[in-house]
Amino acid sequence: MDHEESESTTPFWLTGNWAPTQVEATATSLEVEGRLPPELDGRYLRVGPNPANGSSPHALLGDGMIHGVRLCGGRADWYRNRYVRTPHQANPSSHYFEKFAELDNSLANTHVVGHAGRILALEEAHLPYEVDANLETVGPYDFGGRLAGSMTAHPKICPETGELLFFGYALSPPYLTYSRVSRDGVLLQSEPITVKAATFMHDFNVTRNFVIFMDLPALWGGSLTDGLPIHWSEDYGARLGVMPRDGTDADVRWFDIEPCYVFHPMNAYESGDEIVLDVCRSEYKFKAGAPQSKPRLHRWSIDTRSGNVKETPLDDRAIEFPRVPDDRVGRHYRYGYAFEFDDEIPLVAKRYVKFDMQNGTSVAHDLGGRLGGEAVFVPASGASAEDDGYLLAFTRDLSAQKSELIVLDASQPERDAIARVQIPERVPFGFHGSWIPDAKEGE
Ligand SMILES: [Fe+2]
Repeated sequence: MDHEESESTTPFWLTGNWAPTQVEATATSLEVEGRLPPELDGRYLRVGPNPANGSSPHALLGDGMIHGVRLCGGRADWYRNRYVRTPHQANPSSHYFEKFAELDNSLANTHVVGHAGRILALEEAHLPYEVDANLETVGPYDFGGRLAGSMTAHPKICPETGELLFFGYALSPPYLTYSRVSRDGVLLQSEPITVKAATFMHDFNVTRNFVIFMDLPALWGGSLTDGLPIHWSEDYGARLGVMPRDGTDADVRWFDIEPCYVFHPMNAYESGDEIVLDVCRSEYKFKAGAPQSKPRLHRWSIDTRSGNVKETPLDDRAIEFPRVPDDRVGRHYRYGYAFEFDDEIPLVAKRYVKFDMQNGTSVAHDLGGRLGGEAVFVPASGASAEDDGYLLAFTRDLSAQKSELIVLDASQPERDAIARVQIPERVPFGFHGSWIPDAKEGE
């Protein structure tokens, strides 16, 4: 399809650099502008929607394609992009929602994470799909038969215990299930959690001792709003459910908050009797006929003694895709990274913002003529400071029609990129990804 000609009538996710690519490519010995830190030894993998038949009814509903770059010893050894081989990718004219309850019917298009030696491509309403280190699909993964439901695209890996913590939702009871997986990949528990309805729960939060569910008033069902069968409820209410990480439904404490919608938290941590959650909060989502409500950085401070939740807006900018270093997940942190966007092209970065949560300040890296995706933090070798590391992201120069993997110095992200890996193919915009370091000997 020539998407340039049909941009006026085609939705944004099928045009320009959101348009799917038709090729699965392998390129080796990539050209690098600048200097790639030789300590970057691993793979940057990022997944996104890439409709196999060239079309999809919603930005979130394209078949997952993973784009990966292998870095080693200051070189960029390869770029690969591969579909995740799912039933829908094999038969893209099949109706995704008609087979929604089939657990292997994942689009595998939202996130890709590494845990216990496996690489998992994730979508929130189905099983993970395992892929190998060269991005070839192994198949659906259910933790050796122990996972009986869906897995969110936003599990959390505890940097202290190595546990993989996640939830899954379903359109019939139990609507919500929590699961905990050991460092070595054994699913230890799956607990049904009582909530009133099937909500569009995209992400959640962990701290050293707790998990925190966001039970928000975007409900599955009803007619389509913005192309999805999800609607905003004026009477469902909004609350946070705090549960010990090895707890059960009976242990959950619920705390009411102001109604809102959150796709992505930045991070959460405990501070004495308080639990602090920093999130990208919108006033609402999926409200038919209403203008878009922009996500902004916002803090919930739960006083677990009094039951009060203090709400504090932290910043005015429209930001999304927040990340912290993997070793700060669930712990007190100083720096968070996100991207600022506008409505011109949805879901892409115009600039990257580094928030100093301690001082309440920020710095930004303006992409100039480029647009980018989520930036992922990779620690420097032997790092001592929290921001001693790099930010990696795919960018696209729309006028020069060049795709790059950029590497920013996370301690000074406002400066020019320290390296730009030239990708000889067009890398469409996408969603989330991870840096998956090569295992060191003995690990
Ligand atoms: Fe997400």
